[in-house]
Amino acid sequence: MPAIVLVGAQWGDEGKGKATDLLGSRVEAVVKFNGGNNAGHTIVIDTAGQREKYALHLLPSGILSPGCTPIIGNGVVIDLEVLFSEIDGLEARGVDTSKLVVSGAAHVITPYNRTLDKVTERYLGSRKIGTTGRGIGPTYADKMSRVGIRIQDLFDEKILRAKVSGALEFKNQVLVKVYNRRAVEVDAVVDELLGYAERLRPMVADTPLLLEQLLDAGRTVILEAGQATLLDVDHGTYPFVTSSNATAGGACTGSGIPPTRISSVIAVIKAYTTRVGEGPFPTELLDADGERLRDVGAEFGTTTGRPRRCGWFDAVIGRYATRINGVTDFVLTKLDVLTGIEQIPVCVAYDIDGVRHNELPSSQGDFARATPIYEVFPGWSEDISKARTLEDLPENARRYVAALEQMIKAPISAIGVGPGRDETIAVRDLLR
Ligand code: GDP
Ligand code: IMO
Ligand code: MG
Repeated sequence: MPAIVLVGAQWGDEGKGKATDLLGSRVEAVVKFNGGNNAGHTIVIDTAGQREKYALHLLPSGILSPGCTPIIGNGVVIDLEVLFSEIDGLEARGVDTSKLVVSGAAHVITPYNRTLDKVTERYLGSRKIGTTGRGIGPTYADKMSRVGIRIQDLFDEKILRAKVSGALEFKNQVLVKVYNRRAVEVDAVVDELLGYAERLRPMVADTPLLLEQLLDAGRTVILEAGQATLLDVDHGTYPFVTSSNATAGGACTGSGIPPTRISSVIAVIKAYTTRVGEGPFPTELLDADGERLRDVGAEFGTTTGRPRRCGWFDAVIGRYATRINGVTDFVLTKLDVLTGIEQIPVCVAYDIDGVRHNELPSSQGDFARATPIYEVFPGWSEDISKARTLEDLPENARRYVAALEQMIKAPISAIGVGPGRDETIAVRDLLR
C-alpha cells in the first residue's frame, strides 16, 4: 500500500494543514519531511457544534487524528523549545501526543542559529529575504556544511559538546566581528540542549525503518510538506525561498522512503494567490481587490502574524507545480473567499518584454519582469459554504473550477468552501 505525498503548489499557506487533517483519520501515519517552525497550519475542527481552532508549527497535522502516528522526519529542523511547548499546548487541550515519533537524524535549531537568522536579515537590509526569523536557513546551512547538531547528538554529551564548540569557534567570530554581537557560550548551548534530552529520548526512532515496516504491512502513510513549490530551494523563486526542498522530491530524502513507494502526489492550491516575505509575485494586487482578498480570506501569517500579500490565481504557477511535483490530484482551497466578486481575473500566461510565456521562466530576472496576461471569469454571489457536491455550486463557480482544472493540467479532486473539516466538496476519493 502507498505513500502519498502532500505539497503546497504556490508560496505556502494553501491550506495543507486542513487537507492533511481531513485524511488523518484514514491513514496510519503522517510524516513531516521538511522545514520547521517556519510553517504555520491552522486547523479548524467542529466538535458537537463547538469550533476548535489549532495552530500547528512543528507537529505533523496528523497529530489531531487519534489513531494516526505523527512522525517528524529526518528532513525537518527542530526547535526543541517550540516542540515541547506545542506538545504541552495540545496536551492541555486534551489532544493525545503520546504517539509522536522523531527522527534521530533530524537537525536541531540551536540558539545561535536563531540569532544568526535575525542578524543576517538585518545586515542584508533592502536585500533581505523576509524570513520568519526562526533559524531555518542557518540550521540547514550547518547541515550542508556538516557542522549541524542532530537529535541523536543530544544523547552523548561528549559528542554534543565537541560539535557545539566546533561550530561556535567559527560562528562566534562572525557574530562578534561581522555583526557586532556578543559571543555565544558553549556551556549555555550544551546545557540548554541537554535539558531536553531525557524528555526527547522515548520519542526518537529509526524513522525510515519504521516507515518501511508500516508500508510493508499495507498501511497508508502521508508525507506532508511544509512551505510550498515556489519556496523550494531548488525549484522556487530563489533566493526568495526557504532553505529546504518543499516539492515532492524532498519527500523521499526528508523521510527515507524511496521514490518507488510513492503512489500519488496531492497538491494543495488556493483559488487565488498569497505570499509572505519578499520576492517577485506577478499577480500581486496592491489595491482594494488585494485588501478584500486579505480581509475575507483572513490572510495573516499563522507564524509571524504578517499580512500576506494577495493576488489573483496564477495558472502558470499551477501548471509549474504539476510539472515539478508530478501532481495526481489538486485540492483547491478557499473558493468561498471569491464569492461576491463580479469578475474574477486568472493569469493564464506572462508577458515578459513583449513576449508571451505560457510556462514559468527559469531565469530569475525574467520572472521578476513578468506581467500577467489575464482571462476574466464571471463570478457568483451565492453563499457556497454549504456546498458538499459539485452540483451544489452555482454555475459560474463550477465554470471557474473547470477552467482552472484545465489550465493546471491535473484533476481537482476536492474543493474547500470554508475552514472547517466538513466544509469540503469531495469530487473523488483522494486515497483511492
Ligand atoms: P497551510 O500552511 O498550508 O497549512 O495553510 P495555513 O493554515 O497557513 O493557511 C490556510 C488558512 O485558510 C487557515 O486559516 C485555514 O483554516 C483556512 N482554510 C483552509 N481551507 C479553507 C477554505 O476552503 N476556505 C476558507 N475560508 N478557509 C480555509
Ligand atoms: P507553511 O508551511 C508561507 C517564507 C518566509 C520567507 C521565506 C524564507 O505555513 O505554508 P524561512 O524562515 O523559511 O527562512 O523564510 O519563506 N515562508 C513561508 N511562507 N508559508 C510558510 O509555511 C512559510 N515558511 C517560510 O515568509 O519569505
Ligand atoms: Mg501556513
